[in-house]
Amino acid sequence: MKLSPLALAAALAFTGTAHAQAKLKVGLMLPSSGTYAALGTAIDNGFRLYVAEQGGKLAGREIEYIRVDDESDPAKATDNVNKLIKRDNVDVLVGTVHSGVAMAMAKAAKESGTLLIVPNAGADAVTGPMCAPNIFRSSFSNWQPGYAMGEVMAKKGLKKVVTITWKYAAGDESVRGFKEAFEKGGGQVVKELNLPFPNVEFQALLTEIAATKPDAVYTFFAGGGAVKFVKDYAAAGLKKNIPLYGAGFITDGTLEAQGADASGMQTTLHYADSLGTPRDNAFRLAYAKTYKLQPDVYAVQGYDAAQILAIGLNAVKGDVGKKAEFAAAVEKAKIDSPRGPFTMSKAHNPVQDMYLREVSGKENKLVSVATKALADPGKGCRM
Ligand code: PHB
Repeated sequence: MKLSPLALAAALAFTGTAHAQAKLKVGLMLPSSGTYAALGTAIDNGFRLYVAEQGGKLAGREIEYIRVDDESDPAKATDNVNKLIKRDNVDVLVGTVHSGVAMAMAKAAKESGTLLIVPNAGADAVTGPMCAPNIFRSSFSNWQPGYAMGEVMAKKGLKKVVTITWKYAAGDESVRGFKEAFEKGGGQVVKELNLPFPNVEFQALLTEIAATKPDAVYTFFAGGGAVKFVKDYAAAGLKKNIPLYGAGFITDGTLEAQGADASGMQTTLHYADSLGTPRDNAFRLAYAKTYKLQPDVYAVQGYDAAQILAIGLNAVKGDVGKKAEFAAAVEKAKIDSPRGPFTMSKAHNPVQDMYLREVSGKENKLVSVATKALADPGKGCRM
């Protein structure tokens, strides 16, 4: 039988792919527009940096990236994640920044069994009631930095605090974690101020803070909104009299734009700019060389999402279908993060040190370890 040139080419292409393992499809669902756009870029950069350091392959498989802009819009999240799962048939989902969008991703991942690694969004539910053997987080729960700051501020002897944040899961849960530890330590939250995400009309709320005269303010904002909040807080004349504290997102990846208005701010987070460990120094150098940018916590979380994927994939020799073996490998791993080594809780959330940092120039300088190996309680997780 004589094959036509076209059929011959098709037959050759078929045998070619049959020999090499197919590319691993990674669906990166991240914001590339809106107030969290820069966070999405840093996560993407960090993820690709780790893969590049492994020679562009994980467990012998080349990586194909499919990127979707989720716009940090929960209303579009289910459609967006289903495109990746059903249309693109991704092997693994990586995303996202916004807690509301991440919860839609977790629901879809749980229903379809698709592997999901969350490289930022702290929604407590993702490693609580929504936890699953195929869902992992490389970042934090919203409760964690809030709880650490509650302990720090109570120990400072602060008594009356006003909280201010966006009204959605991340803001609510960050404040809840803060309040739990702060009130346990003898402090009192006298007022909880909110505005809808991603609004940045802070004036009326700043006037209310000035009138309330608390000892201090605790806040959760991030990205573009965090830049504006810190600048507006200073412009309103509050910085001198009422110290502003927060979960570290308020000053992470934002200092270039905040300038002197952020100076001296203390925050808690699972990363700092001056850890000075060989592991972090190597990461920071490689990131700066590759992207001509300084890394931030989001870059670290993206990098570690790729590390977690690599750990699981190596254990199953690239076969993502072997979910129990994949999970078992990640569960017993010590992840060699630039932030310092961490392990996974039973619910697949990092058990990690929370650092107290202080803004000095363009850096979140390490002050101390605020809470050692802090584990999210993982309430409601059954698996
Ligand atoms: C979230 O929505 O969970 C979130 C967003 C931005 C952050 C941290 C948490 O910097």
